[in-house]
Amino acid sequence: MRKYNIAVIGVGAVGIEMLRVLYQRKFPIANLTVLARSARNIEVDAKKYSVKTISPGMFDGVDIALFAGTEGEKGAAVTYAKEVVKRGGVVIDNGADFRMDPRVPLVVPEVNAKDVKKHKGIISNPNCSTIQMVVALSPIHKKFGIKRVIATTLQASSGAGRSAVRQLKEEVSLIAQKGQADLNVKAKNRSMPQQLAYNLFPHIGTFAEAGYTNEEWKLVKETHKIMHDNKMSISATTVRVPVRTGHSESIYIETKRPASPDKVRALLSKSAGIIVIDDPKNNLYPMPKDAEGKDEVFVGRIRKDPFNKNGLWLWVVADNLRKGAATNAVQIAECVLLCP
Ligand SMILES: NC(=O)c1ccc[n+]([C@@H]2O[C@H](COP(=O)([O-])OP(=O)(O)OC[C@H]3O[C@@H](n4cnc5c(N)ncnc54)[C@H](OP(=O)(O)O)[C@@H]3O)[C@@H](O)[C@H]2O)c1
Repeated sequence: MRKYNIAVIGVGAVGIEMLRVLYQRKFPIANLTVLARSARNIEVDAKKYSVKTISPGMFDGVDIALFAGTEGEKGAAVTYAKEVVKRGGVVIDNGADFRMDPRVPLVVPEVNAKDVKKHKGIISNPNCSTIQMVVALSPIHKKFGIKRVIATTLQASSGAGRSAVRQLKEEVSLIAQKGQADLNVKAKNRSMPQQLAYNLFPHIGTFAEAGYTNEEWKLVKETHKIMHDNKMSISATTVRVPVRTGHSESIYIETKRPASPDKVRALLSKSAGIIVIDDPKNNLYPMPKDAEGKDEVFVGRIRKDPFNKNGLWLWVVADNLRKGAATNAVQIAECVLLCP
């Protein structure tokens, strides 16, 4: 079997998981180049990696570059993606910089793997909260048609990167030191807009049009692009919660044709990448702590809206660093290289 030259850019929350997923999935690697802003040696699951300082020449001979660096002007993808493409490599980017570019496919393999073939050098990985939502909704949309989605996401600290996890840990420890008498603390390294320990806040990203945050708009626009359906009405509230890893989503859908909970449960149970855990009598439903480290999207609490024969609720949980980022990116890479 042919082996490929792979580069991973960024060794933060997602980059580390990317190294782990490549190894666990036995990706056919000839050479692995790991890049970040500064060089150092790191260890992931007792495997040593030498991280090099990023520069254009590092992309000579690279077949696929998996970008997990910060977004925006100072980020890795805006500066270096073109250097990969110029050298004949393919970029798979985890950030938002190219997601809505019409020339760039936005791919969740369980939903729109065929779009990979349309790439012109860059493929985008959707936002973590979008990925798990479309994996769960796509089979329902194909079978029953979805016309309306109302989602509330409960997103873990690691969704905002390693600095947010550090903030949460520091706050928990500061509160413990105070004997929990005072729940208000100020972490030295605060990267989120509010305290997260013993708290939550409906503010992810920046506030944008019509009072929604850009994270909430990502759920709308990215879902439309992946599903190739701009008519689906989608509206969301995104909430940061004091969970380390694993995003949860409470999702209300209105289908075009009636879909009973039993039918949806049966459909999702046989759909790719989904595990249904839906046994409330035995207190069984998906939870983020159980999803951590797993690649599937977990769905439970499937139930009817008593006032709308076409209305259904679902509870959807996934590891934001794995299926929400690294696993999905590596699946795209597998598709680029190995799909017929
Ligand atoms: N966290 C999630 O759940 C999640 C989910 C989906 C998508 N994403 C996206 O994935 C990307 C990475 O997120 P993260 O959570 O892993 O961030 P993070 O923990 O903050 O780590 C960022 C990494 O990127 C590197 N980096 C930043 N700017 C760079 C540059 N100009 N050149 C080279 N390397 C650079 C940093 O290098 P140094 O270590 O040298 O500072 C660091 O290793 C972001 O675009 C994010 O939006 C994240």
